[in-house]
Amino acid sequence: MHGAIVSSFKRYLDSALGEDIWRHAIEEAGLKGKTYMPVSIYPDEEMEALLSAAERACGLRRDDLLGDFGEWVIAPLMHLYKAMIPQDCDATGFLLNLQQTHERVLKLKDPEARAPGITVKRCGGGLVEIRYASTRNMGAMIPGAVKGLARWFHEEVELLASEPGQGGEETYVFRLSSGELTSQQVG
Ligand code: HEM
Repeated sequence: MHGAIVSSFKRYLDSALGEDIWRHAIEEAGLKGKTYMPVSIYPDEEMEALLSAAERACGLRRDDLLGDFGEWVIAPLMHLYKAMIPQDCDATGFLLNLQQTHERVLKLKDPEARAPGITVKRCGGGLVEIRYASTRNMGAMIPGAVKGLARWFHEEVELLASEPGQGGEETYVFRLSSGELTSQQVG
């Protein structure tokens, strides 16, 4: 897992839930004394151990914790990777480019790295469908991340449907105000 995510997870816990949670989580995950830098890559197992331990330390369910983290993390990521974010796009345009953004960010550190399997499709009427497939089982970040993205672009968002698939797959359908504008303009 990319250090931008792991180190942001610590900053999220510190600022949203209090510094004790990270201290408990890192100890319980057996990683006491370890520090996480945004420029490094860490074993997926460490992120998973930290997530599970944080879940127990703060009493939130995994999906709620990931959703809240997803919402929190968008603004710091947007600042950190400003140079790689397509200019002049709206939230829907950004999402349609998400695969390339993830690939560019990951390949900076590791040319062999594979981006998370997230496919984004624009449907009619301002709707956007997002499909997630990853053994990391972090799809619950998506509703929060899309909310954070809408806030970044000063748009409205509504989660209309979510459907779990097999092996950690999930599908979400959102309505974004940028998508509505675009379809009105096109129509
Ligand atoms: C500035 C914007 C963004 C940046 C720079 C960014 C970057 C990253 C990075 C570096 C990772 C770690 C991947 C790895 O180590 O393999 C990641 C994971 C992830 N990102 Fe993003 N991301 C951004 C926006 C978003 C948005 C808008 C969504 C929601 C649709 C999203 C959903 C996810 C999910 C679900 C993961 C978990 C990875 C997995 O399951 O494999 N990201 N992101």
